[in-house]
Amino acid sequence: MDEERKRRYWQRYQLAKQKGVKFYPDIIFKDLVVAFAIFLLLVGLATFVGVPNEPKADPNDTSYIPRPEWYFLFLFQLLKFFPGKLEWIGTTVVPLLGVLALLLLPLYDKNPYRYWKKRKVAVSLMTVVMLGIVGLTIAAVVTTPPQEEQPALAATLAEKIAVGLDLYSVHCVECHGAEGEGGEIKGVEGLEGVVLDPLNHPDFMYTRTDETILNIINYGQPEHGMPPFGLAYGGELTQSEMEAIVTFMRYTWDDRVELPEEAARVGAIPTLGPDEVPSYEVHVGPIVKRYCVSCHRPGKKNNNYYMRTYEEIMTSGDHAPNVIPGDLNSNLILMLHRQEIEAGGPMPPTKALKPELIEIFERWVAAGAPQTAEEAAALSAPKATETVGATETITPTVTAEATEIVTPTGTVEATATMTSTQPAP
Ligand code: HEC
Ligand code: HEC
Repeated sequence: MDEERKRRYWQRYQLAKQKGVKFYPDIIFKDLVVAFAIFLLLVGLATFVGVPNEPKADPNDTSYIPRPEWYFLFLFQLLKFFPGKLEWIGTTVVPLLGVLALLLLPLYDKNPYRYWKKRKVAVSLMTVVMLGIVGLTIAAVVTTPPQEEQPALAATLAEKIAVGLDLYSVHCVECHGAEGEGGEIKGVEGLEGVVLDPLNHPDFMYTRTDETILNIINYGQPEHGMPPFGLAYGGELTQSEMEAIVTFMRYTWDDRVELPEEAARVGAIPTLGPDEVPSYEVHVGPIVKRYCVSCHRPGKKNNNYYMRTYEEIMTSGDHAPNVIPGDLNSNLILMLHRQEIEAGGPMPPTKALKPELIEIFERWVAAGAPQTAEEAAALSAPKATETVGATETITPTVTAEATEIVTPTGTVEATATMTSTQPAP
């Protein structure tokens, strides 16, 4: 550049500086260009990078430590100086004063200089404010306890389905049936005789999304007698528990959805070998949990017969004992065979258990109602002194008379029970 051009440029520059730049449209236009570029950048980031989601809010999770984003931490920390009723000073008064101070700045600061050495008061004030913000932020970070990793309700899909099945068994079976089959409600206070459509049917599963089902469980349909289950609506289930129930329903009752292989055995009730003695632990417990506990727990209509544990099954109830080891005339067995006895019945009220499940109860009671698998194994293992012929069955503590059992089909079978084994010839 030669001298002449330099001079002319300098002149133009001085001229332009005197005239100034118009706020509208010049500066606004530049602002808009920059704002638009930043907007595109944000859209791009949101689309291609995204924001990591925290898990869904769970009102039951007391270990969650809520904290604002880092740029608000100093305000959050400030609140700690204004405990309880003074909080409004921290949340409202202090920030308001700060904003007002900035807003009124042109009115009280008429200093014409821009050079920092000539603006000592303003610069030192701002320095103090910035140091305060940084200090408060650091204090907030340091005092935040590490977030404990919340153990997930269920890690795998199979586990989630299993959890859902358990929760469904406890909370839903009393009205909707163990297989979601619906039908007439019996034995539930206030809903006696109400007829429910099946949930395990394409008419239901095909026409409801997971979200719809979740909402029904969460809010209930109080006007129809379906209670709300969400914690926020007076129920006792957390968000993730309700999600597990929906997952269980979808994978079990929607025939368009393939049950993953590792989940296929979820909820299966162990089958019995021909000579095996069932135990509470392995066989009876899972059946009871699935078909009885929903009604036979506290707070339900059930003659005070609770079935959550072995002890409860053996001892509780207005007509206790409902299970007498060795006695096939026990209330529980008679009621499973849909007899109407003094204690009530039939059980479960709506629909008979499958014959193979009733058989498990019978063989369990007949063998003395053993609790653990070891006790049952000890009962079924043939004892050396007693194994004489191949035809003998060992039935300990069995009553001497013949017991009449009414089978679900209505025929009466006489089962002669043995009291001792025959001596070898
Ligand atoms: C005290 C009885 C009761 C219990 C317990 C209960 N429900 Fe219900 N449920 C009902 C009634 C009554 C309806 C209304 C049916 C109707 O409108 O025809 C209903 C409706 C529903 C519906 C909507 C059905 C439809 O056709 O739209 C779903 C889904 C449902 N319940 C799921 C559940 C689940 C899951 C549970 C367990 C967490 C549960 N219910 C527990 C009584 C109950
Ligand atoms: C839908 C709710 C419901 C289900 C499911 C249910 N029960 Fe009951 N159960 C009742 C009610 C209600 C009574 C009170 C008697 C009556 O009304 O018949 C009762 C009473 C009993 C009694 C008598 C208790 C006593 O001391 O008087 C026995 C035994 C029993 N049930 C066994 C079972 C068994 C075993 C199962 C599971 C296979 C089962 N029940 C499932 C509602 C239910």
